Amino acid sequence: MFTNTLIGAVAVAAVNVAAQGTSATTPAVPTGTPIPGDYTGPLRPQVHFSPPQGFMNDPNGMFKDANGTWHMYYQYNPTGIVAGNQHWGHATSEDLYHWENQAIALYPPEEGQYVFSGSAVIDVNNTSGFFPDQDNGVVAITTIAHGGSGPQTQDIAYSRDGGYTFEWYANNPVIDSTSSQFRDPKVIWYEDHWVAVIAYSQEFVVGIFTSPDLKSWTWASNFTRHGLLGTQYECPNLVKMPVRDRDSGDLLEETYVLALSVQPGAPLGGSITEYFVGDFNGTHFAPSDATTRLTDFAKDNYAAQYFYGTAEGENPVNLGWASNWQYAQQVPTGNSEGWRSAMTLPRANYLTYAPRIGLTMVNEIYDMSPVLEDGDALAEQTMGNGSVVVDYSDVASGAVFVDVTVTGINTTLVSSFTTLNLTLSAPASGEALQSGFYFGGDTPFFVNRGLLRGFDNIFFTDKFSIADVYSSDSSALASWSMQAVVDRSIFEVFVDRGTHAGTVLFYPTQPLSQLTVASRDLPEGAQVSVSVRALKSAWAEYEDESGVVAGNVTETIAKRHMAYEAAF
Ligand SMILES: *[C@@H]1O[C@H](CO)[C@@H](O)[C@H](O)[C@H]1NC(C)=O
Ligand SMILES: *[C@@H]1O[C@H](CO)[C@@H](O)[C@H](O)[C@H]1NC(C)=O
Ligand SMILES: *[C@@H]1O[C@H](CO)[C@@H](O)[C@H](O)[C@H]1NC(C)=O
Ligand SMILES: *[C@@H]1O[C@H](CO)[C@@H](O)[C@H](O)[C@H]1NC(C)=O
Ligand SMILES: *[C@@H]1O[C@H](CO)[C@@H](O)[C@H](O)[C@H]1NC(C)=O
Ligand SMILES: *[C@@H]1O[C@H](CO)[C@@H](O)[C@H](O)[C@H]1NC(C)=O
Ligand SMILES: *[C@@H]1O[C@H](CO)[C@@H](O)[C@H](O)[C@H]1NC(C)=O
Ligand SMILES: *[C@@H]1O[C@H](CO)[C@@H](O)[C@H](O)[C@H]1NC(C)=O
Ligand SMILES: *[C@@H]1O[C@H](CO)[C@@H](O)[C@H](O)[C@H]1NC(C)=O
Repeated sequence: MFTNTLIGAVAVAAVNVAAQGTSATTPAVPTGTPIPGDYTGPLRPQVHFSPPQGFMNDPNGMFKDANGTWHMYYQYNPTGIVAGNQHWGHATSEDLYHWENQAIALYPPEEGQYVFSGSAVIDVNNTSGFFPDQDNGVVAITTIAHGGSGPQTQDIAYSRDGGYTFEWYANNPVIDSTSSQFRDPKVIWYEDHWVAVIAYSQEFVVGIFTSPDLKSWTWASNFTRHGLLGTQYECPNLVKMPVRDRDSGDLLEETYVLALSVQPGAPLGGSITEYFVGDFNGTHFAPSDATTRLTDFAKDNYAAQYFYGTAEGENPVNLGWASNWQYAQQVPTGNSEGWRSAMTLPRANYLTYAPRIGLTMVNEIYDMSPVLEDGDALAEQTMGNGSVVVDYSDVASGAVFVDVTVTGINTTLVSSFTTLNLTLSAPASGEALQSGFYFGGDTPFFVNRGLLRGFDNIFFTDKFSIADVYSSDSSALASWSMQAVVDRSIFEVFVDRGTHAGTVLFYPTQPLSQLTVASRDLPEGAQVSVSVRALKSAWAEYEDESGVVAGNVTETIAKRHMAYEAAF
């Protein structure tokens, strides 16, 4: 959560909603029932999560419960389309693509306070003592901002109904502070105690704290001034991650990753997430080298959070906020469709040894089968030099998945003209989103969103690239791959088996509906396999006749009904 942005935004939001009020204690913010949403707008992603209405930023409190249900909370302004009036919105999913909107889960404990970013855990052993007769109690730990410039403290809330409703702990804060820049606790379980990483944002420190019971916390160590500083540290995540063989996927070892979001002041402008690989011994994180690594080569992936509660040994899963504070509050969806910001696709991560570079985090798109359209692919083709053109204007969701693999590459025979491009276009307006790979020389992958005309902002920079060493062994034929999802206004691309990820927002004036994969000057013997699949809208299934997604109202209605019956 970026405080300076928030303070400015609170003022704006207050003007917009003055008549309705801005505090959770006022009727403007509904309690006990989800906010309805219209997910039919031409810019509304169909396989990504976005809030029903209003402004969303960081993912918060994410956990997977014992029944396999994924819970996601998020920084939410339910009364405006810019940041401000922060609450925790809530949605649940069985597959990370179909999301059931739930009632807002955390409201400010008092007027003039804001619920900033934080995390949640399942207190399976009742370490907190909040859960007399259950093993599925949920404890959220979050930053409370006391006004725009008052202190930021760490407070907890507990849920006895599996994460749907919470009560604030009576003896908050659990970590007091006089600092106005101390936030975003992320809690994990380590062997026999809880561990929280929290950002002292403007001192460039990640504080590591330990606790036996989630209530009493002890400072354990500081991780100070590592990597890119930007102008603030935010949203630290400490996560145990497998190291896998690049080809076989076999588990080699497990290690820790400390991910840290930096903002503003990223190399490309605004917001970015960096990560460090190292050892964690329960109190101290020691990076294994001096390298700063980035999770994304474009501009629209910030504040990602890992789910608590995924199985030991499984690749950890994260969702990020697919935006950038440089323009998050200006993007056109706010005025035209009444919502702003989506989450990234769910990603499973592991580390591997990439050629020449060494330890690198790989991004795999979490199993997309729940949203893959049944039946034939839109295209399934192999070629050498050539092109595949697909008109997908008939795909109702406007969302497609593209999978390209190039095999049999003799790397000594590639030239500076050896390229493979993926272009998505809107023939009616001539707009296009371009991407492609140069197999020779410095081998960069590029994305260009500069040929789209739906959003003009000086910070909405349009060209991104990343160098990819896809092979360092010229004695063997090499292969290279890319996977991409295009979803109305979000493009996510995973280059070279997920070694690089690019998350790119784009705003066309006409829907993109044509896709071209083209290759040229490939060495003799190289073969390109192209598969293009239509994606099903995850939201359309929840729409009523008028196109509205109501969310999980059934329980509320049932409860009201019971209350009504009890009254008579
Ligand atoms: C799992 O589902 C069962 C049956 O619906 C329910 O009783 C239980 O509370 C759920 N467990 C969790 C962890 O939510
Ligand atoms: C719960 O208790 C078991 C048995 O003592 C222990 O192995 C496990 O680490 C504990 N987990 C949590 C999250 O408290
Ligand atoms: C949970 O902790 C509370 C407080 O210590 C205690 O009263 C309760 O019996 C505990 N429940 C279980 C199942 O351990
Ligand atoms: C840890 O960092 C915080 C924030 O800069 C600072 O206030 C505190 O004194 C540090 N603790 C130690 C022991 O250095
Ligand atoms: C963890 O590492 C720190 C720093 O090296 C060290 O002081 C501490 O004793 C270690 N703790 C354990 C349990 O090994
Ligand atoms: C690549 O091409 C060169 C030149 O034709 C040849 O000498 C070499 O054996 C080829 N490499 C592989 C791995 O096939
Ligand atoms: C891919 O795009 C680049 C940059 O516009 C261009 O130079 C190259 O010729 C294109 N390659 C193909 C196969 O279209
Ligand atoms: C691609 O075209 C070049 C000539 O431009 C040719 O040398 C090469 O063999 C072709 N590659 C394939 C895979 O057909
Ligand atoms: C709806 O919310 C209730 C809690 O109010 C929860 O028990 C139930 O599982 C939810 N149903 C769905 C489909 O999310």
